[in-house]
Amino acid sequence: MRGFLAAVSLLATATAAKSSICADGLYMIAARGSLEPAQAKPGVFPAYSGSAGYVAELIADKIAGSKIAGVKYPATMTNYVKSEGDGAATMLQMAKEYHASCPTSKMTLIGYSQGAQIVSDVLCGGVGGSFNHDAPLSPEIVKENVIAAVLFGDPTHIANTSYDRGTSMHDGIFTRSNTTVCQQYDNIMASWCDKGDKYCDSGKGQDALMIHESYLGIYNSTMVDYVVGKWQKSTTTGNSTGSSTGNSTGSPTSSSGSTPTPSTDMASGLSSAQSFFLIWPMLLLSCGLLF
Ligand SMILES: *[C@@H]1O[C@H](CO)[C@@H](O)[C@H](O)[C@H]1NC(C)=O
Ligand SMILES: *[C@@H]1O[C@H](CO)[C@@H](O)[C@H](O)[C@H]1NC(C)=O
Ligand SMILES: *[C@@H]1O[C@H](CO)[C@@H](O)[C@H](O)[C@H]1NC(C)=O
Ligand SMILES: *[C@@H]1O[C@H](CO)[C@@H](O)[C@H](O)[C@H]1NC(C)=O
Ligand SMILES: *[C@@H]1O[C@H](CO)[C@@H](O)[C@H](O)[C@H]1NC(C)=O
Repeated sequence: MRGFLAAVSLLATATAAKSSICADGLYMIAARGSLEPAQAKPGVFPAYSGSAGYVAELIADKIAGSKIAGVKYPATMTNYVKSEGDGAATMLQMAKEYHASCPTSKMTLIGYSQGAQIVSDVLCGGVGGSFNHDAPLSPEIVKENVIAAVLFGDPTHIANTSYDRGTSMHDGIFTRSNTTVCQQYDNIMASWCDKGDKYCDSGKGQDALMIHESYLGIYNSTMVDYVVGKWQKSTTTGNSTGSSTGNSTGSPTSSSGSTPTPSTDMASGLSSAQSFFLIWPMLLLSCGLLF
């Protein structure tokens, strides 16, 4: 009897440990853009996630029990190739580990700018050349677990692919020459890039940087709807072996522990999210730094 109880309590402990890692809702891995701050901005985004984490927080508001994990990587402009390579390797590892711990739980990858290049590397493999030549996440894991990937301002963007969104008709500055792998994910992958963007559209105009920084303002709800739509589809097709329930009633949790709803900034009347994303690019713009 003692032995049996001990076994039962061990099992209970194991279950508790598992459920603390695995999201009841959607697990989102979010990679920030170059020079976006690594620290969490409470109410706006979790640590290491930046603009991508902002979108993830909005998604977590709509999918109960979701979790957000930022990608701990340098996000620097100097030494960009190494920074991006580190980020891609880290996100790949995070996705593999999450799959190993929570094989039936659904994932989404989100990235902005350098972070978007990281997402495309994880799904499609490294760009090669002076960039990393890493193999992509295994197609079996993608098929079973990755329900959506959202990219915006990806420097490896290729014009006129079936997963493109936005108004861009030009390639980015670090064009991915081989889209064979990406193309097979066009049912789960969407890459936003607008005409004139300095990095994803090789824009040369005075507003090229401003365009690169305008995606949240224009597309955030479109991105959120895209992922929530994929989530609903994945939980209502009925043949998932997973424990994912489309409709858990628990309160949303994010790894940051921050409030998903942006709080109101009394002074300006803007939400803290709005004022952050307006002010932060201005600071960097003045130094010509933002990527
Ligand atoms: C994408 O398609 C548009 C319209 O057909 C065309 O003008 C543009 O040159 C294409 N871009 C590339 C990079 O092929
Ligand atoms: C593109 O990538 C695919 C998959 O890795 C490979 O089979 C194909 O040979 C590549 N095409 C070119 C032109 O390199
Ligand atoms: C996100 O979109 C909403 C409108 O859907 C807008 O009010 C908000 O300012 C946007 N967020 C940012 C950071 O631009
Ligand atoms: C449901 O089954 C179809 C056909 O077997 C498969 O293509 C699809 O990926 C499955 N969906 C899920 C969520 O398992
Ligand atoms: C979740 O439940 C609510 C209320 O019961 C319902 O309106 C909604 O459609 C459900 N969503 C899904 C994805 O099942």
